[in-house]
Amino acid sequence: METTTLTMPRIGDLAPDFEAMTTTGKIKFSDYIKGKWTILFSHPADFTPVCTTEMSGFALDQKFFDEHDTNLIGLSIDSIHAHIAWVNNVKKNTGVLFEFPIIADIDMSVSKLYGMLQPGESETAAVRAVFFIDPIGKIRLMMYYPLNVGRNMEEIKRALIALQTADKYKVALPLNWTPGEKAIVPPPKTVSEMIEREASDYEMVDFYLAKKELPMN
Ligand code: BEZ
Repeated sequence: METTTLTMPRIGDLAPDFEAMTTTGKIKFSDYIKGKWTILFSHPADFTPVCTTEMSGFALDQKFFDEHDTNLIGLSIDSIHAHIAWVNNVKKNTGVLFEFPIIADIDMSVSKLYGMLQPGESETAAVRAVFFIDPIGKIRLMMYYPLNVGRNMEEIKRALIALQTADKYKVALPLNWTPGEKAIVPPPKTVSEMIEREASDYEMVDFYLAKKELPMN
């Protein structure tokens, strides 16, 4: 049986660099992501229904991503001409403009680099991937969805806020955490930290599972 070796990025890797044509001009990815959070997301094809709902969802939440210091950048294995025609079509039909760049990955090079081309799903279309990349260029969270199931924008926004909150306050975030809820204090690393913790005002199930309020932003 023939097997295909795929490059799959991993959490903690530096985001692989590339140059590409996009709907806002040519970019060098390492320059584009420098100093800000970035969400890189792929869609299978222009002029398809689920993709249109998803791309419109990102565009409608552009203000949220701006307020969270986050660049958006889309990708599909389509030409610049197809991207521009689709952007124009969606704007005419619904009034929604995709302001973020969309990569024209016509040679599939970026899709392959980021594990977006998964042959068991499609040999020619990228799956619905989402990469959360931090301001130093590290991949911090990845999502991969199949062609026939759209992503959840609320979860994408929650995950971004969770990553930013975990970094800012050096905490971990429990199951189903949403902004405003208590965060998990990292477990003690020494016996004296463990004893100190008993005197704290943390909400504690036991010494290794303690939660605290975060300051209101
Ligand atoms: C869609 O976006 O609707 C779609 C794209 C590729 C395959 C299946 C659905």
